[in-house]
Amino acid sequence: MRRFRTSRHEPARVLGERTKALAGVLVGLAGVLGAAVFGACSTNGDPIVASDAAATEVDANVGSRVDAGGSLCIDGKPAPYPKRTTVDIFEPLPALTFPTLGGGTFSFASRFEPCAKTSKILLLRHTATFCGPCQWSQKHTRELVPPDLASRVELVDLVISDRNNVAVRTSADLARVEPELGGHADIVAAEPEFVSQRLGLGDRRLPFYSIVDSRTMVALNFLADPEPERLAGVLRRELADLDGTPRPPLPPSALEDGVFPRHHWDVLHEMVHPGKPPAEPTNAVADLPAAAALGKELFTDTQLSSTGAIACSTCHAPEKGYADGKPQSVGVAAGDRNAPTVLYASHARFQFWDGRVDTLWLQAAGPLENPLEMDSTRLEVAHRIHAHYKDRYEAVFPSSPLPPLGDGARFPARGKPGEASWDRMAKDDQMAVTQVFVRVGKLIEAFERTITAEPNALDRYLAGDRAAITAAQKRGLGTFFTAGCAQCHYGPRLTDDAFHNIRFATGRRDGTADKGAAIGLPLLATNPLRTAEYADGPFRELYLPTSTPELLGAFRTPTLRGSALTAPYGHGGSLSTFPELIRHYAFQGLSRNDSRAVGETEAWVSLILEENRGELVEALSLFSSPIVP
Ligand code: HEC
Ligand code: HEC
Repeated sequence: MRRFRTSRHEPARVLGERTKALAGVLVGLAGVLGAAVFGACSTNGDPIVASDAAATEVDANVGSRVDAGGSLCIDGKPAPYPKRTTVDIFEPLPALTFPTLGGGTFSFASRFEPCAKTSKILLLRHTATFCGPCQWSQKHTRELVPPDLASRVELVDLVISDRNNVAVRTSADLARVEPELGGHADIVAAEPEFVSQRLGLGDRRLPFYSIVDSRTMVALNFLADPEPERLAGVLRRELADLDGTPRPPLPPSALEDGVFPRHHWDVLHEMVHPGKPPAEPTNAVADLPAAAALGKELFTDTQLSSTGAIACSTCHAPEKGYADGKPQSVGVAAGDRNAPTVLYASHARFQFWDGRVDTLWLQAAGPLENPLEMDSTRLEVAHRIHAHYKDRYEAVFPSSPLPPLGDGARFPARGKPGEASWDRMAKDDQMAVTQVFVRVGKLIEAFERTITAEPNALDRYLAGDRAAITAAQKRGLGTFFTAGCAQCHYGPRLTDDAFHNIRFATGRRDGTADKGAAIGLPLLATNPLRTAEYADGPFRELYLPTSTPELLGAFRTPTLRGSALTAPYGHGGSLSTFPELIRHYAFQGLSRNDSRAVGETEAWVSLILEENRGELVEALSLFSSPIVP
């Protein structure tokens, strides 16, 4: 189990206020919960956090806070490792051991050297491969510890989860995830609990660095997603404190365009307009123009529904950003979830909020036979193709003509697996009809792959036009990073395509919490259509644990491209506007005792100060632009 909880929610509000008060006092300092943060003890023993920029002002007596190791070295011999169960600021780390890449173990106790002449710093980097700034940090691993500090600072990677945000627990998991890391420390360990999260009460963005003194194993400081120069500066300062020498000043931030530290600038520059979708080997007609043209007609054909009134475009309308503007979709009957946009769905690793399919043609099969959506059957779909699209269909699939659907004895008017009319059919005829049904999905997929939006102001800015966006929008984008949004919303589509729990409210008509990927992902592996018979090439290899606690209440991160057109938001459509959504994030989702969500908000979803919330709305508005007709 991942221990995502600490003193979240109600205490967090109190903390938010305190932090705000603190930040308010320290006029002119970074307005967001800081890039680097120091702790101090509050009355209840929890550390309070404030921006690192504040540290120089407030943290004056820091040199005295650590007993330089002496008391743990008795007659030249190390005292027993300090007894602790939790990681807290200014306290020794508990004696934990983790599996490592390569099959060994790493223990905190192995770094405890109380009798050493000088302290070393153990620099723990909690990271996850889904996370945008983590990927940057991993790639720049070799630059993080300046060469002159190399003998005094040991970096250790503690990997929380993989690119789908499935927990990394074992050496085998690490071996699987290593290629995703893109660069790593000499020691890489599996640490799904994120034990250091208590250090960063309000700001636990990944990558999250904990600075530990090897002579006492005391956690001295932490930094959430710091600029590399700042990390180096803080390491120098901590070493100076440990050595009792004067603290060097922190290096000033070098900001690109006056707003962005260079690591954020780099990640920002990957948020470019999405180009063509990736190759789709399971669909041979994916990029055939004739297939896309036919698919486009099928997408708007209401005769593919039982009532003759519902088409894909009913719930995915171009003028509504390829969504429907409703909290939960209404097809033949009312549904339980919000309609996500189809814009750039062709780029996604998974489809649906819960990831229950991974190709668009498999996706299309869902609504056609879903009784709440189009309520059709594969036999009806095949008959419709036979009656209205035969020539064009056979032109796209010349080697697979339609079966003799006019033969009513062999091919009843309606039927799908589980219905008597279907189950009575000959196996070969069933197979032939299912092939038609699947190919309808492939035609629709070919169309969906052509859907795109016009380049927007952000695209122009990233192409080099510094005047393309306003100063407020730039500040908003800066806050998008410092508030932690870019952990999950990055890249051309502003999504990691991974599964996360942020306790958005259910849209289920029965009012119960939606379990999300915990139900959806196991269905992916067992989908009866996801087989070699129906695919034109190999499916992507999946690593999908059938049950893992972090998937409970987790949903796929949606694209933010076009989201200005697709309110209301979230899997349940519970948030009507961007300001409402930001407020939801600011308080780290619905409170733990609210039954409209299940599971815990992830620890790295950080508090957002009130004064930064408006800026985030500015940033969100930047990601949308009109759909290309
Ligand atoms: C009644 C409204 C409705 C109809 C009709 C409908 N959809 Fe959807 N669509 C939804 C909803 C709601 C979801 C999300 C469902 C879920 O995640 O469980 C969705 C999800 C999707 C997705 C996944 C997008 C993503 O990012 O996860 C795609 C693609 C899509 N629909 C395409 C289609 C196609 C193609 C058709 C027609 C064959 C269609 N839809 C018909 C409401 C509808
Ligand atoms: C830990 C990953 C993560 C972080 C951090 C994160 N998001 Fe999200 N975002 C998601 C997921 C997952 C959803 C869908 C959640 C659901 O429906 O349950 C989502 C939904 C959204 C939506 C709704 C889009 C739609 O079409 O419904 C917006 C807008 C959004 N996030 C913006 C932000 C902003 C702004 C921030 C920073 C304050 C942020 N996100 C931080 C993962 C993340």
